Amino acid sequence: MSLINVIGLGYIGLPTALMFAKNGVEVVGTDLNEKLVTSLLEGQLTFEEDGMVELFRIAQKNGIIFSTKYQKTDIYIVAVPTPYIKSNKKLDPQYVIQAIDQILDVCDKGAIIIIESTISPGAIDKYVRPTIEKKDVVIGKDIHLVHAPERIIPGNMIYELEYNARTIGADDISIAKRVKTLYSKFCKAEIVLTDIVSAEMSKVVENTYRDINIAFANELAKICRKDNMNVYEIIRIANKHPRVNILQPGPGVGGHCISVDPWFLVGDYPDLANLILEARKINDSMPVHVLDRIKQLMKEYNEIDISKIGIYGLSYKENVDDTRESPTLQLLDKMKDNLFLGVKVYDPFIREPMVENQFMNFDEFLNEIEILVIMTAHDHIKSKFDLIENKIILDTRNIFNCSEVHKL
Ligand SMILES: NC(=O)c1ccc[n+]([C@@H]2O[C@H](COP(=O)([O-])OP(=O)(O)OC[C@H]3O[C@@H](n4cnc5c(N)ncnc54)[C@H](O)[C@@H]3O)[C@@H](O)[C@H]2O)c1
Repeated sequence: MSLINVIGLGYIGLPTALMFAKNGVEVVGTDLNEKLVTSLLEGQLTFEEDGMVELFRIAQKNGIIFSTKYQKTDIYIVAVPTPYIKSNKKLDPQYVIQAIDQILDVCDKGAIIIIESTISPGAIDKYVRPTIEKKDVVIGKDIHLVHAPERIIPGNMIYELEYNARTIGADDISIAKRVKTLYSKFCKAEIVLTDIVSAEMSKVVENTYRDINIAFANELAKICRKDNMNVYEIIRIANKHPRVNILQPGPGVGGHCISVDPWFLVGDYPDLANLILEARKINDSMPVHVLDRIKQLMKEYNEIDISKIGIYGLSYKENVDDTRESPTLQLLDKMKDNLFLGVKVYDPFIREPMVENQFMNFDEFLNEIEILVIMTAHDHIKSKFDLIENKIILDTRNIFNCSEVHKL
């Protein structure tokens, strides 16, 4: 039985560690966040996800360990954050470099470091190899490097861990094969072996492709709004073409992936990444488009007080509690800039107060508002149509199919 140390127990590292533990691998999960590790040690999950409770219980039964300390072992999986630097749009490699440094302080010779975090193409050459070489450690002999980017989506992580195809990029094919055997313990889909830079680039390309596709849908939504065409109907019909697959428009793009990774290409290839930059700008403009729609509705329905606006959904996508880069937070900022004060907010997945006028009870929230702006398509709201049908509804996620509901 192999022992692995999963570094970073957030949205990616934790389910990955649990999945390995469920499938017979001895796992230590390490995170520098003491509060998070204490919660896990006390048997409390740190975020909600379908199937996580059961998976956690099995992993606990199989002896998974959580710690703030790095372990001496022969396989490390790094799943730390990889944000972009706001000023130049390049990858901020500080968490990865810190993790590599700490691994080198404890690991045995011959250890394999698998970076699961999404990184810009060439980042391992630019940041990881120099960090290792500075310590007189020889890559390919004393340490082996692998990039195995993760593709799972919050809300369906457990299923996707098992059924998504994976990519493993390594310098050395024999190491790639060892790592493939490890992931095969739970991954039932194809595992593609390649070189490191192809693994780095293909992951960023996947998310960039989706960002551009969404930007196209969002631009169509704006065009259709101008001349009162139904963008959803138009996309539905266009997608009947066997080679067309347009995604859905929405209030913006959030999360730690699609709204972040395309920036790496813009940052590293500013003269070449023109389409990618435009797509980012279009998607980032959507919260302002939502605000414009709210203003139009306020004009249409005279005399509605700003404090009667209710924003539903703080997380960036349905049925999860992740608010990183959330379009709602951007909308609320824009509202503040426009002196839209006293706007009410509710999200059934966010149980700690994080913004002003946030309600913890849906009925109380509903009592206070006249316009309901649906920013996140949680299943919760889908079942509440009867309760909200007397409100003016702006449904930015196209979840309600009736003529009284206003769309993007
Ligand atoms: N969230 C997603 O949907 C998703 C999907 C695919 C890929 N990814 C990628 O996976 C990576 C991790 O993302 P995430 O969403 O899990 O992030 P996260 O912020 O949820 O979790 C990262 C964890 O790493 C810990 N950490 C930071 N530095 C550390 C260090 N030096 N040593 C130990 N722990 C450390 C943090 O405390 C945190 O708990 C990112 O590169 C992201 O782009 C994320």
